[in-house]
Amino acid sequence: MKEKIELLQGDITTMDVDAIVNAANNSLLGGGGVDGAIHRTAGPDLLKECRTLGGCDTGDAKITGGYLLKARHVIHTVGPIYRGGTSREPELLKSCYRRCFEVAHENKLKTIAFPSISTGAYGYPIALASEIAVKTALEQLKRFPAIERVYFVLFSNKDLEVYRRTVATG
Ligand code: AR6
Repeated sequence: MKEKIELLQGDITTMDVDAIVNAANNSLLGGGGVDGAIHRTAGPDLLKECRTLGGCDTGDAKITGGYLLKARHVIHTVGPIYRGGTSREPELLKSCYRRCFEVAHENKLKTIAFPSISTGAYGYPIALASEIAVKTALEQLKRFPAIERVYFVLFSNKDLEVYRRTVATG
């Protein structure tokens, strides 16, 4: 399944895929980081649709249209805020990735691009988060063989190197 995973450095808002994943917050009404970038690029109609969703629990995921993005859809997920690792953070982060795959499957999507969920404002150490991201993606690709390609789009070269190491050793 590793051959279905591709690591890239760049801006996830430029990805031409069935869905990009947004690292959102419980309100789903926008924020900074990748969330801000996605809303800026998608335009105000994304926020309009998000207002109809009633927020999102941590570890869950909800889908919207992609509006002015190249991506056809946005899957919004809410990662855990890192509080030292003993507040169910690993389980909740895993649930984010799992729920995104389930939502992609339900919507017959074949290509998904993920940012590094929770590793910015939410403070999750990226080495630990990347292990959960890659391991869960591999598990879910086995579960949903119709999903053809998964991209992890890392914002910095340093983050890309961390993911590279995780894939190589995992
Ligand atoms: N493309 C790809 N990755 C990006 C981009 C981009 N355009 N912009 C930032 N990143 P964060 P979180 C990386 O903080 O930790 C928001 O305010 C960034 O370098 O966006 O899950 C939400 O509304 C980092 O590696 O998300 C929530 O309140 C990664 O994306 C809160 O932040 C995630 O960083 C969520 O925090």
